[in-house]
Amino acid sequence: MDHRSVSGIINEGGTILKTSRCKEFSTEEGEGRAYETIKKNAIEGMIVIGGNGSFTASHKFYARYKVPCIGIAASIDNDINGIDVTIGSDTAVNTALAAIDNIRDTATSMERIFVVEVMGRECGYIALAVALGGGCEDVIIPERPYDIHAICHDIVQGNLKGKMSWIIVVAEGAARAEDIAKKITEMTSLETRTVVVGHVQRGGRPTALSRDLALRLGKAAVDALLSGEADKAVGMFGNKVVTIDLAHAITKKDLKVESAYSLIKLLT
Ligand code: F6P
Repeated sequence: MDHRSVSGIINEGGTILKTSRCKEFSTEEGEGRAYETIKKNAIEGMIVIGGNGSFTASHKFYARYKVPCIGIAASIDNDINGIDVTIGSDTAVNTALAAIDNIRDTATSMERIFVVEVMGRECGYIALAVALGGGCEDVIIPERPYDIHAICHDIVQGNLKGKMSWIIVVAEGAARAEDIAKKITEMTSLETRTVVVGHVQRGGRPTALSRDLALRLGKAAVDALLSGEADKAVGMFGNKVVTIDLAHAITKKDLKVESAYSLIKLLT
């Protein structure tokens, strides 16, 4: 690829490389085949654009084959430790937030309980961010055990005080909106509605923040590779581009769940 092959794509989501998860790469044979391809094509280094799964695989591949590799933190899940925000996460959060804002109109007007499922199989970042930004009444994420009795208790207590509309955000890896809604209806006899925001969060026009990150980190990754770095990731931390060890990047990111959750519960 050269400058021309990446021109005119800054406003697009997805990937023109058409890369996706590769089951074969998680096997020794698959890794071996990848290494053969790298050797055959005289590839001197790799830039891996992805999240925790891609970085974990790259770190393992480097340990075995020593092909220099630099990761660019790009995942809607914002699941890279040591990095404030990944490319795409701001876009995904704003898309999900727009959906929540629209749902709020019906929730308020018709005094309804909505359970809204957003993406996040292993990471509750999107759910937490939209629950905070959307003024939602509760959130269920993989990082925090939830208590359906406590959620129903809050709803009933809220109703007694005149609070009749609720939006409960669920990360898809923690529970399914349908199941939570069913339980709420069973336990409170109140009507519920569900919305699964789904893959609209994975596409669309990137926000200014996601574009800015892509540009900065693309350059930083090339610079890092050319200066001989390997087994590292580039990302923004405290408003600065940083280069961190992949071994650190793949450890579980602390989402400061409890402080975010207590802010969310202030509203109910
Ligand atoms: O890549 C991570 C992720 O975007 C998660 O947030 C989401 O839960 C999952 O992928 C969805 O994956 P799929 O497109 O395979 O359903």
